[in-house]
Amino acid sequence: MKAYYSKAYGNSEASVFGELPDPVAGPGQVLVEIKAVSINPVDWKIRRGDARVVTGFRFPRIFGADFAGIVRETGPGVTAFTKGQRVYGSKSILLDRGGALAELRVVEENKLRLIPEGMSFNEAASLPIAALTALNGLRKCGLGRDTEVHDSSGNPGPASSGKQGSDSSRKEILINGGTGGVGHFAVQIARARGAMVTVTCSRANANLALNLGADMTIDHSTGELWSSGRKFDAIFDAHGHMKAWRVHKLLKPGGAYASTLFIPPPYLAIAVTRLLHGKKLMSANMRSLDEDWQELERLFSEGSLRPVIENTFPLERASEAFDLAMRGGFRGKIIIII
Ligand SMILES: NC(=O)c1ccc[n+]([C@@H]2O[C@H](COP(=O)([O-])OP(=O)(O)OC[C@H]3O[C@@H](n4cnc5c(N)ncnc54)[C@H](OP(=O)(O)O)[C@@H]3O)[C@@H](O)[C@H]2O)c1
Repeated sequence: MKAYYSKAYGNSEASVFGELPDPVAGPGQVLVEIKAVSINPVDWKIRRGDARVVTGFRFPRIFGADFAGIVRETGPGVTAFTKGQRVYGSKSILLDRGGALAELRVVEENKLRLIPEGMSFNEAASLPIAALTALNGLRKCGLGRDTEVHDSSGNPGPASSGKQGSDSSRKEILINGGTGGVGHFAVQIARARGAMVTVTCSRANANLALNLGADMTIDHSTGELWSSGRKFDAIFDAHGHMKAWRVHKLLKPGGAYASTLFIPPPYLAIAVTRLLHGKKLMSANMRSLDEDWQELERLFSEGSLRPVIENTFPLERASEAFDLAMRGGFRGKIIIII
């Protein structure tokens, strides 16, 4: 099979496009013909060797966790899938395990889902890590499904119908970095939950953020956010680098902050903030329960969640996709098509 793989830890100079042996599905496994893979920061960070203690030393090594494809064969004991079905999921790339950047990959049956009706391979591959992280971050910010605004018939309202609660009843949320992989999903989900959404992004991406459902945008390259005097009920830091003291200034009493990155010291500041002001500062990792996937699929089928995909590359040009992902300056998700 054709594959894009790394021969050692490093950037694109350590990776090649070439041939590797075809994998075979074992018991409980499914052989998937991969059609699309999306790039997440975890792919290029692990490829570079940032977490080599937990990612092992076995090479050649394939990266690219999130994928979509077609079932080519099923291994012994597989009952949930049959040949020809469209499937998607996320392969763990920790502990020597391989990702999806190849024509054929073996995936555990319990790590696969059927692609919903109307969702393309590219859209399906764009969702797992980024959208599940956005969903969990917003839940930690108090924007779980139970906060969603419904119309009088009980149907979910705002993003598809344009309905909103009154301004005073809407939770005010700041999404820091709202047009990247995680952020552009978070803006749409927060909007679907009926929140009043302020987004930081570069000036060039302001229109995109507004189209995704933001009520207001702030250019993150200026000091406008810090000087505005604004206060929020919640902050979802999709970019992940806000300082604890700045978060404290921006949050209303009792507010919540969730970051996609592990919150670094000073832990003391975090503890004091919680004790004195009732504000919660938390990390928000991807959560992958069945109910989370169902929720994403529901939002997609309602039209409330649409992946933004402006950059696609064929497998033989995967290095360019990784280089762009590391450099930044793109919007939404980067997809490698196989
Ligand atoms: N813990 C987890 O489970 C988990 C899961 C997924 C991601 N993550 C982490 O979350 C972070 C974001 O992931 P991603 O996939 O969204 O990355 P991404 O697609 O590269 O997006 C990064 C975003 O950050 C914005 N940005 C750049 N400089 C900024 C600044 N100074 N202030 C505010 N925003 C800024 C960019 O906006 P502009 O282009 O407009 O500048 C871009 O929208 C990464 O660090 C990743 O490792 C964690």
